[in-house]
Amino acid sequence: MRDTTPQPIHLADYQPPPFLVDHVALTFRLAPSATRVIAHIRFRPNPSATPGHDLRLDGEGLTLISASLNGAPITAHPDATGLTIPAQDLPEGGFDWHCEVEIAPEGNTALEGLYMSRGMYCTQCEAEGFRKITFYPDRPDVMASFEVRIESDLPVLLSNGNPAATGQGWAEWHDPHPKPAYLFALVAGDLVATSDRFTTMEGRDIALNIWVRKGDEDKTAYAMDALKRSMLWDEQVYGRAYDLDVFNIVAVDDFNMGAMENKGLNIFNSRYVLASPQTATDNDYASIERIIAHEYFHNWTGNRITCRDWFQLSLKEGLTVFRDQQFMGDMRSHAVKRIEDVLTLRARQFREDDGPLAHPVRPESYVEINNFYTATVYEKGAELIRMLHLLVGEDRYRAALALYFDRHDGQACTIEDWIAVFEEAAGRDLSQFKRWYEQAGTPRVDVSDAWQEGTYTLTLRQHTPPSPGQPLKEPLVIPVAMGLLGADGRELLPTQVLELDSPEQSFSFTDLPERPVASLLRGFSAPVALNQRLRSEDRALMLAYDTDPYNRFESGRALARDILHAMVLEGATPGPDYLQALRVMVTDDALDPAFRALALHIPGQDDLASSLHAAGHVPDPDAIQAARTTALRLIAEDLRPDLLRVYDEMQTPGPYSPDAKDAGRRALRVQAVSLLARADEGAKAAELFARADNMTEQLGAWGALLGIGKGQAEGAQFYRQWANDRLVVDKWFSAQVMYAAPATAAALAQELTQHPDFDWKNPNRFRSVIGALGANPAGFHAKDGAGYRLVADWLIRLDGVNPQAAARVSTLFETWRRYDTTRQTLMRAALNRIMAQDNLSRDMGEMVGRMLG
Ligand code: PHE
Ligand code: ZN
Repeated sequence: MRDTTPQPIHLADYQPPPFLVDHVALTFRLAPSATRVIAHIRFRPNPSATPGHDLRLDGEGLTLISASLNGAPITAHPDATGLTIPAQDLPEGGFDWHCEVEIAPEGNTALEGLYMSRGMYCTQCEAEGFRKITFYPDRPDVMASFEVRIESDLPVLLSNGNPAATGQGWAEWHDPHPKPAYLFALVAGDLVATSDRFTTMEGRDIALNIWVRKGDEDKTAYAMDALKRSMLWDEQVYGRAYDLDVFNIVAVDDFNMGAMENKGLNIFNSRYVLASPQTATDNDYASIERIIAHEYFHNWTGNRITCRDWFQLSLKEGLTVFRDQQFMGDMRSHAVKRIEDVLTLRARQFREDDGPLAHPVRPESYVEINNFYTATVYEKGAELIRMLHLLVGEDRYRAALALYFDRHDGQACTIEDWIAVFEEAAGRDLSQFKRWYEQAGTPRVDVSDAWQEGTYTLTLRQHTPPSPGQPLKEPLVIPVAMGLLGADGRELLPTQVLELDSPEQSFSFTDLPERPVASLLRGFSAPVALNQRLRSEDRALMLAYDTDPYNRFESGRALARDILHAMVLEGATPGPDYLQALRVMVTDDALDPAFRALALHIPGQDDLASSLHAAGHVPDPDAIQAARTTALRLIAEDLRPDLLRVYDEMQTPGPYSPDAKDAGRRALRVQAVSLLARADEGAKAAELFARADNMTEQLGAWGALLGIGKGQAEGAQFYRQWANDRLVVDKWFSAQVMYAAPATAAALAQELTQHPDFDWKNPNRFRSVIGALGANPAGFHAKDGAGYRLVADWLIRLDGVNPQAAARVSTLFETWRRYDTTRQTLMRAALNRIMAQDNLSRDMGEMVGRMLG
């Protein structure tokens, strides 16, 4: 048991910092086990705080060598979380703090602060890693300019800002833009750069570099291309230009998250930088494009305008996700991008919002902030901005953003500041809208309708279920984009936006020639669960004719969901109507192949568990898995000739290109081959595996074989071919676990943890085996509890070396209350066993504590 329960931090307790920092000068003498960090920091009292405070500096795991104030040595006595200089020992007015500490990057397995990754030094300071580097007021509302000197024999020495001077064994960097400490970064290593240039609309000539390990330099072209397109897009769409002379990106192999927007020195998980056609899938390329853009866009939304405190995290993350979504839509396809985003939102955020980990987009308290980099803060946060955009319109959205940049550049801001610019630019009271930031849980919208003499009346009711700490909810402003369709598929009413802002509201449409079908929540205009009872014929009509591509997709999905529910609950089989509707979609050459590929994906196991649970059933993971397998086989048998034709037609002629057009064709081709495998015993898939010259098709074909219990020889060949490529070996591990038969999945994962390549301290590798069980729900939930035990064992082990990574994987258990009592008991036991560990981290303690409730 943890002896001291860490205390939560509350938004309501926010106090401005008593001291501000004007400037920081840091010197690093790098050595793996004894790095010296010498800091000179210029403090001054904050005019907007009460005077007379002690100076409190955060610091963790630092060995204090010496300290002085205005040049006079002092003795300070650090405690476990920092040190305090009593007010009476502080000079009047401003003062200079000087301090030398020693740290050991080599032993830093938590990958937070300064750490080493395969011989290279790198940092991760968001959210609170800077305090592991030196004593500092480590909070985002303290912003300062930085000067950094790095001393090391390593050839490449990087930090934020512009290069200032360099010599044998040292380099100096100056960052003139005031920034919070979480944006500090340093890298030192034997690296090579791919370089390019970009001239901004303001005429600034910028050197762009992507730094990687030797041997990886032939895999950076796509990331560089994505970076230049991101820079141009932010100028053209948001009027924002880059503001330093260099922009550096570094790829590191050991990284807890995707990437980090450090000022002028973005640090990336190497899986989101490195790509070649042979080693990266089309999805990898798309992720690289999105994350490169995301981190670049943070330069304005995050860095120049940052967060006052960590409760405001969505201020930068929700907005930056929304911006990267807009960018990806512009680069690829808005329709397909929207469908993909909604699928992820539902799979990850709705799941979170409906369980014990539900929290508002702006949380009110936390124990460990690292636990709040969530789908709610990121993806739901982006949905809130999408709704604002819809409610005020494109022109006023632009005006609001212009005002935001103008008014708040250089500041640390709050959600209130953000809402205020929209209220001013749109001339509209948004106090009710603001509840979206404060209330957790996915709102339910129930629909009923009536028809009388040419008038169609829609009644919408909203209700948000209770969530932890929030038993009662207020009504929200819900924009419902909708249109009306006639029986022949004609659009009787084009898209308009209804604003549902009361618990119940009716909307009437007059002078209609016939009773229409309401196409509601077009484009998924609000992050709600829509409960609209539609007949299968109506869904089929929308699937065939809706002018809104999202609702076309959604109708097909709803049909599939209904059928799968009936299969799970009553042993039904898919009827000819559904199969015919699918056939029409798949063979419609006028439709974007990427869209058709998505339409061929039937709802996944977790999606079905969640929808069955919402419909009042206890989901049975085995029955769900079995129903999906049957459905896939029946679809494959019924559509076999069409799938064969599509498979042939979707070959991409010419050399591989990662662009959206070719990627869409490959997506459809791979989807066709994996369905076909269920009707031809994998013949086509084996053929494709043998012939594939790109990772999308190679991995897709192997997955198709694994999906029918084959692919052993192919797996062995895959490993031999790629044993030296870490990112591909991650795929080799995860595909086996994802596709393993439910009864043996845990045993297989267990066996893979014995593989010499299972380097469990590397987060990507850990997730590729243990995390991958999350993509095999029937395997994870095997009724003998083997999956639960394995995951708990490994979470306990990882928590001792990397709490942040371990805590994230613990969300595999977040849905435990959905299941039958046998499984609940087993999962509760696994969680209790974790909770009972000595020295459990604050990260894991908070997560497991919340899940146990
Ligand atoms: N701020 C990063 C992003 O969204 C995510 C991140 C958070 C990375 C914490 C590392 C640590 O781009
Ligand atoms: Zn971000």
